[in-house]
Amino acid sequence: MKDRTVKRKKIGIIGMGNIGTSILRGLLAADGGRLSGEIFISDIKKENLGSFEGEEESRVVVCKSNEEAAKKSAVIILAVKPKDVRGVVEEIAPVITGGKMVVSVAAGVPTSAIERDLGEGKKVIRVMPNIGARVGESVTAMCRGTYAGDDDEALAKGILGAIGAVYSVKESDIDVITGLSGSGIAFFTAVIEAMAEGGVYEGLPYDLSLAISAKTALGAAKMILAGDEPSSIKHMTASPGGTTIRGLYTMDARGVKAAIMEAVSEATKRAREISGKAR
Ligand SMILES: NC(=O)c1ccc[n+]([C@@H]2O[C@H](COP(=O)([O-])OP(=O)(O)OC[C@H]3O[C@@H](n4cnc5c(N)ncnc54)[C@H](OP(=O)(O)O)[C@@H]3O)[C@@H](O)[C@H]2O)c1
Repeated sequence: MKDRTVKRKKIGIIGMGNIGTSILRGLLAADGGRLSGEIFISDIKKENLGSFEGEEESRVVVCKSNEEAAKKSAVIILAVKPKDVRGVVEEIAPVITGGKMVVSVAAGVPTSAIERDLGEGKKVIRVMPNIGARVGESVTAMCRGTYAGDDDEALAKGILGAIGAVYSVKESDIDVITGLSGSGIAFFTAVIEAMAEGGVYEGLPYDLSLAISAKTALGAAKMILAGDEPSSIKHMTASPGGTTIRGLYTMDARGVKAAIMEAVSEATKRAREISGKAR
């Protein structure tokens, strides 16, 4: 992590589940593990807080309450389930003073709801990461609330940059990105697994088939990110009368494209339902 503003900030993480732990691990590993400053963590259950040894022990401070973590931090990352956000925000609101910033990862909870519960003028950033954070490959969409400024967004970007790529987006796009990326990583996983099982069906051992399927997905993703159009990759692979066009025809005939588009659309609708309730 090159952003020096991050190094000066004390960071708190409330909720040490899948995403909270991934963010903590990313921050500890960032910049070759030289990120200075303590990270204050809290969780409703002590057993969720893990144990830290060596250098990590001196950098990770396990707090007795969410309030303590929020009090000691300049940037507080809320990594609890959407249903728990309101309770946690109300709990920490009295100690969110003096320019502290709250970064929420909760799906479907708008910045306006957090601002309402924190009190007027409080800085809020909303992010939508994905579980690729566990290997430093999250795609994180970010937007800011009414009172967060350019510097606050840059700071949040520096922090979330520890777990992967960060894109600034409009808040109205976050629900779609929840479907496309937050949930979407599970859709790709299902496709990779189905491809692997196709290999098994045709006689490959599962582990080999899964590794080849996942690496093939990685190659496709890297080519697309390097600028190749998906259609040109298909044309480069599909020779007349060959194997690829037969497989692509089968995918179309089976409605795979429509099913995948619908999965993103349904996940987006669900994110909008949750957003509606959280307002
Ligand atoms: N997982 C994903 O792929 C993903 C992707 C994008 C965004 N998100 C968002 O990230 C947030 C966290 O998701 P997650 O999958 O990491 O959930 P998780 O694994 O359930 O982690 C949440 C943690 O918060 C704890 N907790 C619950 N109530 C609390 C409270 N009042 N104070 C402090 N800690 C509390 C939970 O403890 P208990 O286990 O005891 O409840 C748990 O350890 C959600 O809002 C979700 O929408 C998740």
